[in-house]
Amino acid sequence: MATPDPEHINAIQQAISKYSKGLVQESPSHIEYLATSPTTTFTVLLTGSTGNLGTHILAYLLEHPSVDHVFVHNRVSSSNLSSLQRHETQFTEHGLNHDLLHDKKLTFLEGDLRAPQLGLAQQEYDELLSIANVVIHNAWKSNFKFTLHDYEPFIIGSRNLIDFALAVKCSSKMRFVFTSSMASVQSWTKGGDLVPETSLSDASIAAGSGYGESKYVVERLLQCSGLNSSTLRIVQLSGGDETGYWSTDEWIPGLIRSSVALGIFPSSEALVPWVSLSDAARIIIDDALGSNLFVEAAVYNMEHPSPVPWNAIVCHLNEALVQRGVIPSPLPIVPVPQWIDKLHSAAAKSDSQTVLRELPAVRILRLFEFVFISTRGKNPRLGDHAALDTSKLMSRSETMRAMKPLGKEDAALWAEYWLSKGYFQRSVADRSQTKRYRATL
Ligand SMILES: NC(=O)c1ccc[n+]([C@@H]2O[C@H](COP(=O)([O-])OP(=O)(O)OC[C@H]3O[C@@H](n4cnc5c(N)ncnc54)[C@H](OP(=O)(O)O)[C@@H]3O)[C@@H](O)[C@H]2O)c1
Repeated sequence: MATPDPEHINAIQQAISKYSKGLVQESPSHIEYLATSPTTTFTVLLTGSTGNLGTHILAYLLEHPSVDHVFVHNRVSSSNLSSLQRHETQFTEHGLNHDLLHDKKLTFLEGDLRAPQLGLAQQEYDELLSIANVVIHNAWKSNFKFTLHDYEPFIIGSRNLIDFALAVKCSSKMRFVFTSSMASVQSWTKGGDLVPETSLSDASIAAGSGYGESKYVVERLLQCSGLNSSTLRIVQLSGGDETGYWSTDEWIPGLIRSSVALGIFPSSEALVPWVSLSDAARIIIDDALGSNLFVEAAVYNMEHPSPVPWNAIVCHLNEALVQRGVIPSPLPIVPVPQWIDKLHSAAAKSDSQTVLRELPAVRILRLFEFVFISTRGKNPRLGDHAALDTSKLMSRSETMRAMKPLGKEDAALWAEYWLSKGYFQRSVADRSQTKRYRATL
């Protein structure tokens, strides 16, 4: 793992200082008030509900008996689709119940988090100010090429939401939940130590990609806002429980697709701590609506409490792919350098269309080298990120406590989803095509 760049550390500190101007400090009387005044019903403002995680959060909120109303705030669609249409498409993809979208306890809002009043009409904003008591801030863009500077619009939007939460009628009862990422501790260097569930003031732990840096800046803004907040550092999310939906644009499906084309899987003893989209949404709701009140600006680490080795996941994938006729027999698991060499030479022999379709891992080859070659001695995680302490979140979330290790049912769901999208083929003819392709590599 590279040493954090001092320029990045400086930029993070400057961003925190710039965007925390005017934020108040938490007062002890505020905490006392909370401890004696539990909230039993919730009116939630959720951002980013058109995304994969947001869709699940929305569905489960609408099913939750303690939720009175949900306002979803999204940017205006670039495709001229109505909010309802966008959500219907996503609910279909994820196998969620469409009827929920017609519940009168749901209001669709379109706006711009960066703008005054979150880009909402005065009446909408005033209504929110008078009744919202939970904010779940989930809208973000994952782009590992973005710098911290590129993420400034998201930091501005987050600050506007914090200001909104501080201005609501009953701000002492407001709960603010932020879906952060374990990338916000991407440069944690304390050997085999678990990353604690606290906010760390040393900005060097966040230095690296702009994505993690920007999440860290917002975590720090929440720390000094005086709000009762939770920042959840979330690991890689895997396919949802309903349909196994796992976007084929993501790097893990790309790795699996490429392995099938190459006829080999890369080997790693690193642990896979993925949490499914569905469990992640449930954990967020356990936290946001939990009966124990927030009494601080909390930070939680969300990784699977029982991570399993990558090689075990590969065995489950092999089984799922054989059962579905994608591969005739389990693929060998080979050392990473061998897998990377074969990927290189296969890509060199193939035209660009074939590479895009069959070997998507080529696009992010450097990431794969980094993902599989761990620099951490104890408890390495796939992706070479530090192991996270989850004991606080375990005590806060029923879902965390009930989670089973990822296993063959999960692999079967993902494989079924990818088959349904044509990412893999299962027919005998297609199988022989795959074999023919492999023979040319
Ligand atoms: N997926 C993971 O593995 C993972 C891991 C760790 C943390 N997280 C965090 O979890 C949250 C949800 O992730 P996800 O996987 O559900 O992402 P996603 O499917 O890409 O959804 C992102 C959401 O944010 C919205 N958004 C993106 N750019 C925006 C902008 N410029 N202005 C306003 N809204 C914007 C999207 O709206 P449009 O529909 O209009 O694009 C969408 O609603 C994010 O905060 C992410 O950082 C995810």
